[in-house]
Amino acid sequence: MDSDRTKKGPSIDPLIAEAKQRLSENPKDYMHDLLHHEAVWKNCLMIVEEEKLDVDMDSLKLAAFWHDVIVDGTYEISREEVKGVCDYLSDKLNEVGFDNDFTKRTIETIRHHEFLDQPVTLECLVLQDADKLDGFSKDRWSRAYRAYKSGKMSGSRLAFYVKTSLEWQPFILASFYFDITIKIAEERQSEIFKGDFFRGIAEEFDLKNLYLKINKDSLTKDIQAKVDKIEIRKKRNRARFLS
Ligand SMILES: [Fe+2]
Ligand SMILES: [Fe+2]
Repeated sequence: MDSDRTKKGPSIDPLIAEAKQRLSENPKDYMHDLLHHEAVWKNCLMIVEEEKLDVDMDSLKLAAFWHDVIVDGTYEISREEVKGVCDYLSDKLNEVGFDNDFTKRTIETIRHHEFLDQPVTLECLVLQDADKLDGFSKDRWSRAYRAYKSGKMSGSRLAFYVKTSLEWQPFILASFYFDITIKIAEERQSEIFKGDFFRGIAEEFDLKNLYLKINKDSLTKDIQAKVDKIEIRKKRNRARFLS
């Protein structure tokens, strides 16, 4: 773990403060607000400690707090906003005087943070797992549900997240890189996605059939093939970044 950076280079604190301000004033939505980013950072710290990883903590912290920030306008579901935040933060890091390696590590970690994207740094493996793990947070789903009920989040947006999360359930566990995240996700999967709480939300959006389908015990051949493919990718990525 690199803890010397702040002594040698510029401080990351002003940029963390800026991310927090942006996330408070103009978050994508209630699923991607400041609380989500704080939870992701907490998950990162837990993973690094449990797995005793040698990562650049400043770079990881910046990536955790900026990964779902939008730098202009309002958010529509797309992959474009990741490019926007990467361009913006890259300029900022150069301006403040961070070295090229640090900037590249941070930006590429953000660029490839999404589920099943190809990780390019060890920090990316940590961020991907930390981010996915917050998809297994009852607190986060309850918050989004309350926001929808009080008219602060659109039904179609929440329905999209519910549908996507349900569709991912049969193979998402296979995508976790670390023992600790697999263990926690496994426990929470039964509690959240296989329980009454999520069934209620799914029913509200006419997704009961999907909920029942993913909760069947046996995997279809297609899903099993996907799980196998993800397991192979995971082994390859672990070997690349953890040996
Ligand atoms: Fe994201
Ligand atoms: Fe996220």
